[in-house]
Amino acid sequence: MVKILREQLIRKLSQGRFISGQLLADELAVSRAAISKHIKVLNDMGLDIFSVKGKGYRLANPITLLDEQQLSHKLLQLKCDNRVDVHTIIDSTNSYLMRRLPNNVLNGQACIAEYQSAGRGRRGKQWQSPFGSHLYLSLYWQLNQGLSAAMGLSLAVGIAVSEVLANDYAMDVQLKWPNDIYYQGRKLAGILIELDAQSEDSAHSVIGLGLNVHMPKHSAEEIDQPWADLTQALGEGVDRNILAAKLIAGIMNKLELHQQFGLAPMVTDWRKRDFFYNKPVRLITGSKEVRGTCQGINNKGALLMDVDGITQPFYGGEISLRGA
Ligand code: BTN
Repeated sequence: MVKILREQLIRKLSQGRFISGQLLADELAVSRAAISKHIKVLNDMGLDIFSVKGKGYRLANPITLLDEQQLSHKLLQLKCDNRVDVHTIIDSTNSYLMRRLPNNVLNGQACIAEYQSAGRGRRGKQWQSPFGSHLYLSLYWQLNQGLSAAMGLSLAVGIAVSEVLANDYAMDVQLKWPNDIYYQGRKLAGILIELDAQSEDSAHSVIGLGLNVHMPKHSAEEIDQPWADLTQALGEGVDRNILAAKLIAGIMNKLELHQQFGLAPMVTDWRKRDFFYNKPVRLITGSKEVRGTCQGINNKGALLMDVDGITQPFYGGEISLRGA
């Protein structure tokens, strides 16, 4: 109930015009005090709504909301017929699809939201998800050959995202093993893949992508690492419906390639945008630290590191530049 009411309120405000508290109260059949309370919650979610005495409430900047029809239409133009569930408010788009496993979700089904109340990043971190500011996108992908088919999956998705940004938005982005997309040395997007294995030969993956589109000031203060966003990088805003459709199409394309041939046909694509290639790095796995020089990735998505003159594969851990 509350969720529906807030969604209606957002829709009414999205045009960017002043609307009086009384009119909102009448149209949504609640009291003015209730409207004022909901506006406060929406402000806490990241929407920049201000009020002027005698005029009412207004969004500081008009917002183009995510739209299921527009998105699906664009996807069809890109020859994709994925089902896309668009949500205004959700806990986490990844959790939404995970809850539907295994029978209530179609292969390639996507979920996208304006706001996540419990957005998740890697290593149990929270993923800041202010309202209408970024892209929070998840996609379900069935792994017919079981869990082993997940090997290198996040790298294939990273390559897909980097190619969309390069080809459609002329952005020169870098890939940071194994899950991040960087722009000019700052994090632009992250990928979180969650797996669910029912049996040895059947497994499910939910691929989550968080991509910064327009970072609000108050969220920026909560992020503990250098970040980039598309609006700053491009010097103009982007249509998130079109961006999302292009990303889904691009990711589907690489997922199909990965399903057929594994990561092998994409290793040179990774190399072109490898942030760490030939740089001195350290890899931390639990309490262990290995130092070496990054030599790219192998066909399975492992990080290749030259350690004391011998190139070795590493399958997990957190990599960072030495000295950084
Ligand atoms: C990272 O830590 O870099 C990965 C971030 C992944 C965030 C995305 S946003 C959409 C999807 N839903 C979530 O709860 N997390 C992922």
